Amino acid sequence: MTVPSPSSGAHDSSKIVMPVQCCVHTNVCTPMECVEQNVKQYLGSLSKVQYVEGLLEVPSSMAGVVEELRVVNLCRDDLWDQWLLAWDVTWQIRAFQLDDDPAMSDDEGEEGCPAYSEWTLPNRAFHGSWSSLHYDTGVKSRLLRYARSALSFSRAGVDSSLVCWNRVVLLHGPPGTGKTTLCQALAQELAIEMGGAREDETRESVEGSVGGSVAKGSAEEPPGSGRSTARSAIEAGSERSDPASGARRGALACETPPPSSRCRRVDDEAGGSSARPRTPRSPLPAPARRATLVEVHAHSLFSRWFSESGKLVARLFSHLRGALEDEPDAFLFVLVDEVESLSASRRAGGSGGEPADAVRAVNALLTQLDALRRHPNVMVLTTSNITAAIDVAFLDRADVRAYVGPPAAQARFAILASSVAELGRAGVLELKPGTLQARWRRAWGEREDSRMLEDGDEEGDLNRLVVRADYWCLPTGGACRLVVRADYW
Ligand SMILES: Nc1ncnc2c1ncn2[C@@H]1O[C@H](COP(=O)(O)OP(=O)(O)OP(=O)(O)O)[C@@H](O)[C@H]1O
Ligand SMILES: [Mg+2]
Repeated sequence: MTVPSPSSGAHDSSKIVMPVQCCVHTNVCTPMECVEQNVKQYLGSLSKVQYVEGLLEVPSSMAGVVEELRVVNLCRDDLWDQWLLAWDVTWQIRAFQLDDDPAMSDDEGEEGCPAYSEWTLPNRAFHGSWSSLHYDTGVKSRLLRYARSALSFSRAGVDSSLVCWNRVVLLHGPPGTGKTTLCQALAQELAIEMGGAREDETRESVEGSVGGSVAKGSAEEPPGSGRSTARSAIEAGSERSDPASGARRGALACETPPPSSRCRRVDDEAGGSSARPRTPRSPLPAPARRATLVEVHAHSLFSRWFSESGKLVARLFSHLRGALEDEPDAFLFVLVDEVESLSASRRAGGSGGEPADAVRAVNALLTQLDALRRHPNVMVLTTSNITAAIDVAFLDRADVRAYVGPPAAQARFAILASSVAELGRAGVLELKPGTLQARWRRAWGEREDSRMLEDGDEEGDLNRLVVRADYWCLPTGGACRLVVRADYW
């Protein structure tokens, strides 16, 4: 059975799909469709391309608009590393702009501790997280496949009483294996696929049609624009701080309204765009969706007042539900880290007559999850270190229970290689591009397993290995010792 992915547009099935994420500078107000077309045109002009994930070079002519081009989520293992000719490839471009706002939080928790933090997605805080996570188990593609199916079920209006799905994910495993980061990155990835930036374009096209040319973030938010979710439910009327609007850095202009428009690039001077008359555009037909991530701080929902915890949980979730009802066009990701603290097994806690406060909290969480399920525009992502401590009723509600374990040798190398590459990018190390990967690949064929990274390295500590190596090696010839170690492969 094939479930259409939200990002899969119509394409020639005989061609090889290359999904590319195009991160557009925050203060550029060119419609994303237009950027996508320009990027597609540029990529189409390349004679050949290698089938690997990672950054693509941004041509200097686009540097004022495009911050980053990245190939992501390739799914054909058989093609990995191969060079493909232009006509074999179909580019699937998703342009988006990052929200630079830091997390907002409330003071609803116990003793003024914030009960949650909230980010508008895609957010700079999670930029690059998805690509930086390396697993050999296929957990990333499994999660993405599940989430895409769940979202397309919701979009298609599938009756959840006939096809049971709760849009609840549980990642469990030892500490430091990237569970929280994976949840945040998954939310960001889905937000990009859903096209979180589309709403701004729609708004901009309306503004454009009445003569305004406003840099992203400087527009006043119309009521119900989806700019804020949980917070707006709590603080009705309170305004969200907009990022300072910068000068436009350049623009890719559409000559005719999208999606059938052909685009050409114009080199705008900063601020010069306002002088150019804008062609009125009709609102985009694609569903306008804004995504938000709310990270629940489970520990702050525990009260020293008997029976209060259940109420705090219920209050928080009812705020979230209120936000979902207010903005049915927005999508909400709810991340509950260390969910065992809110969903500890009731069998262990409630053996007495009066249920303990923890049991009330579990009951409240379960009831609230059932209530959230009725909303098609929400996904709950949870993590836990201690799966055995979680209440079985909660486990039953999770559609996906994925074990996230310590990375095996291949992923360990990838983590180390990306850390070294980052040091190269930052100029701390001098690297020949591709050297590590080429050497590793050759050696990988010759060696069955790795010992280099297994001795004495704690799981999840590989990023820190580089820092430690640098620290150890500096007195005796600098960080190049680390490169020598990596060259061993
Ligand atoms: N497989 C991996 N690939 C790349 N980075 C990883 C991996 N596993 C962990 N990390 C990095 O380790 C750090 C810790 O990750 P994170 O906090 O998400 O782990 P966690 O599983 O949620 O831990 P805990 O159970 O203690 O909450 C992050 O910087 C993350 O990027
Ligand atoms: Mg965590």
